[in-house]
Amino acid sequence: MKYSILNFSVHGDHNGKLVALEKNEDFPFEIKRVYYIWDTAHDAVRGKHAHKHLEQVIVCMRGSCDFILDDGHDKATVHLDSPTYGLYIKNNIWREFTNFSDDCVVMVLASEHYNPADYIHDYDEFLKSINK
Ligand code: TYD
Repeated sequence: MKYSILNFSVHGDHNGKLVALEKNEDFPFEIKRVYYIWDTAHDAVRGKHAHKHLEQVIVCMRGSCDFILDDGHDKATVHLDSPTYGLYIKNNIWREFTNFSDDCVVMVLASEHYNPADYIHDYDEFLKSINK
């Protein structure tokens, strides 16, 4: 399964905490786009697609949610509930995310600009593409 959990370095003292993300050995790609998601219904299921090339690091900035990942062979569920971790997902992974807490805010750092042509929205097409 092409995912990993990045454990960010936290700078913190009695004034609060800070994480800085820069393209270096700790971060896997040059960030070209950032988007964030909030105010999501608890049982909403978002995602439901794979990407042909895009790589993403997903950070749950507040609250919690679950990512269900599927590479066509194996499935994994990753529970995100801390801004100190990033879920790094490479291309060709079917992803769905759900089980949002009321206060959930998810930030996504992406390796490419938004490109609808990079999406695979059909699960059967996804399976065909990885078995090519
Ligand atoms: P969508 O990819 O369906 O969100 P999710 O997979 O989280 O359910 O995106 C929702 C809408 O936002 C859709 O109209 C496309 C638009 N969008 C952008 O314009 N730019 C972006 O970077 C992203 C991720 C989505």
